[in-house]
Amino acid sequence: MQFGQFDEFNREYVITRPDTPAPWCNYLGSVDYGAIISNNATGYSFVKSGASGRITRFRLNSRSNDQPGRYIYIRDNSDGDYWSGSWQPVCKPLDLYKSECRHGTAYTIIKSQYRDIETNTSYFVPLNKFYEVWGLRIKNSGASARTLSVFGMVEFTNHDHYENDTVNLQYSQFISKTYFKGNHILQVINENGSEAAADVDGGCDAMGDPSFRFFGVAGAEVAAFDGERDVFIGNYRNYGNPAAVEAGGCSNTPAYNGNSCGALQIDITLNPGEEKEMIFLLGAGDGEIAREIINTYDTALSNNTDLAGQQLEELKHLWHSRLENLQIDTPDDKFDNMVNVWNAYQCFITFLWSRAASFQYCGLRNGLGYRDTVQDIQGIIHLDYRLAKERLCLMLSAQISNGGGLPLVKFDHVPGKIETPDESEYARKTGQSFYRADDALWLFPTVMTYIKESGDWNFIDEVIPYADRGQTSVYNHLKQAIQFNLDRQGPHGFPAGLFADWNDCLRLGTKGESMFVAFQLYHALSIFRDFASRKGYGSDVEWADKHMERLSKAIDDFAWDGTRYVRGFTEAGYTIGSKDNEEASLWLNPQTWAVISGAAGGERAGLVLEQVYRKLNTKYGAMLFYPAFKKFGLPVARMVLFNEGTKENAGIFSQPQGWLILAETIVGNGNRAYEYFNEINPAAMNEQAEIRVLEPYVHGQATEGIDTLNHGRSHVHWLTGTASTVMVAAVNGILGLQPDYDGININPCIPAAWKYFSMTKHFRGKLLNIKVDNSAGVEKGVKHLIINGKKLVGCYAAFDGLSDKNDILVVMG
Ligand code: NOJ
Repeated sequence: MQFGQFDEFNREYVITRPDTPAPWCNYLGSVDYGAIISNNATGYSFVKSGASGRITRFRLNSRSNDQPGRYIYIRDNSDGDYWSGSWQPVCKPLDLYKSECRHGTAYTIIKSQYRDIETNTSYFVPLNKFYEVWGLRIKNSGASARTLSVFGMVEFTNHDHYENDTVNLQYSQFISKTYFKGNHILQVINENGSEAAADVDGGCDAMGDPSFRFFGVAGAEVAAFDGERDVFIGNYRNYGNPAAVEAGGCSNTPAYNGNSCGALQIDITLNPGEEKEMIFLLGAGDGEIAREIINTYDTALSNNTDLAGQQLEELKHLWHSRLENLQIDTPDDKFDNMVNVWNAYQCFITFLWSRAASFQYCGLRNGLGYRDTVQDIQGIIHLDYRLAKERLCLMLSAQISNGGGLPLVKFDHVPGKIETPDESEYARKTGQSFYRADDALWLFPTVMTYIKESGDWNFIDEVIPYADRGQTSVYNHLKQAIQFNLDRQGPHGFPAGLFADWNDCLRLGTKGESMFVAFQLYHALSIFRDFASRKGYGSDVEWADKHMERLSKAIDDFAWDGTRYVRGFTEAGYTIGSKDNEEASLWLNPQTWAVISGAAGGERAGLVLEQVYRKLNTKYGAMLFYPAFKKFGLPVARMVLFNEGTKENAGIFSQPQGWLILAETIVGNGNRAYEYFNEINPAAMNEQAEIRVLEPYVHGQATEGIDTLNHGRSHVHWLTGTASTVMVAAVNGILGLQPDYDGININPCIPAAWKYFSMTKHFRGKLLNIKVDNSAGVEKGVKHLIINGKKLVGCYAAFDGLSDKNDILVVMG
């Protein structure tokens, strides 16, 4: 089934059937003011944090009714019929009610048509602002005049903290009230409080601090209001049939000891063909702030200045100019849509929001996970390496002087004297008392990619503090990261698994060993060796060589199982992922990482990837391992708690599919890399959306494997490491755009059927117009480049040889 389609030209996804298999969402705003909105205007808004800065209410896990949201009701006062500007919440029959939702880059436009009344609502957060706009245009396309009431409505939280608002009602209901201020409703929490009261309270989530929110309207007179949700909705009713709308108007009831909301009624008459515009404004701020914001839009509307329209254009311009840094045109539109717009945009959203706020994450983890964040950075480097660098420096400053990463980097991280997992204080504050084995090893590919994209080789000498004490160069940070794993090894000479490696559920422990981390370490050593060699540090080159040789031998001796690499060794000496095991005998990640790291090449690389294809692949992606755990389990394999075929228990965990695509491109299998890309490409499931369920324009965290009742159904939208690994695999692997220190390699690995494609890339201030000629029909291999008319053998273009604007022909064969 299909519910919408991609509008490539406008960089939008257009939903024309609103009864989507799940709420299909978009992100508005910035890290200062964020908002999530579904195709039915559902969702929530927050200041800085989805958990502790929550201003509107949303119940996670409410997919079946997908409420509440940012609602606009329209009532025809001639007969009392009413509907909503989004299909939800009133849900008029779809043969009478037409709707279209356009999710774009940081904006969503929802249109409706019902009984000759058309609405068009643009939802967005203007650039650098801390409030949101719902710009409504309402038009009478019929032949007779209409008398209507329009109601804008939002449900506030009663407390800035999501948990207090949701479960501590004996407290939170009695600290909130609303006032009507002419053109807006002002909600005040802790009106009697003060900073001093907060101190007395012992800092329990800033209880006592006054907090203000507003919901107002510009361009219209408010006829009536309700500030109390339960009055607006009424008892034993719901958002679909609010009492106030049904009765024909609000009752001017403020909230006092209840559930605050903003509901504003505007009465209008629309002559045939007439259109009216009004702008609802929602944000956090006191009455003065609210008045100022609303006045700005009022003034603009009365001067016939389209302020909201201009702000929307500014947003589009910002986002589209980021995306412009790489645009491609291949024979596959669905591939292009992801690389050009949606996977790229998702990478930015994941980069910005980490795992903090979605329809699955409420934001309670008030910080950045080390491994997730360092990987997320990789997804945007080719589009905005400056932004990437800022976050990369932050993450280096969250490395501990022993080389390990801080499990959780607080949003207000200040390096220098942070407690480490070795100290009880850290564990008390974050609940994280152990090191992960892999955290700091993610720095290697990320630092390398950043340097090669930007050409900023000096970065390697930049001095950055450690989280706990001292400071040193990026180079030394990296060396120390390697040392961290060398200092924590098991009996075979592989890195210890510690609390976990990439797999949250695998507890190999301090004497157990992780082969994923062993391959990561090998990869780190080879990247570090390259850095050392460029710096002319001979002894470090030897040091890296020595450890790579030693690791390589141990891998051959202990981790090669004849047909596959094993996943690890438990403290008790049990081999995870051995071919003789009854459960979980073949694992995906050690095979792909053997290839990515360079530890396995030639025949062995081909062999392990073939095993994966034959034994783990499904039509919706490769499973993380197989067969699922049922008997073997705690405490080592905590994934046994997940139903078989789900998430880390033999599910199709989507992030590793990016590594699989990349590994196939390394060995030159373009057809297979593309096949794997398609299996997981959300856009490729656009016509079978009822199977995948998630938005057909974003990657999810995991898809259900063959053991479940819903093979192919995907879960956990938007905020996932899948975004960056698939992006890297597509750009670096399939498209073959591989910047190097002093130039760029263009070495595609594509399906043989792609005879021709083109790309436009901005590379360190130079424009590359690349055309790829694959009339030879190969999967990989470049005979020569022709750059501005000059022929060069191979696939490497030196930076010095590039002009500001370059026409590059890549001839494969
Ligand atoms: C999700 C976590 O955010 C990520 O850090 C982890 O690597 C994967 N789960 C796999 O367990």
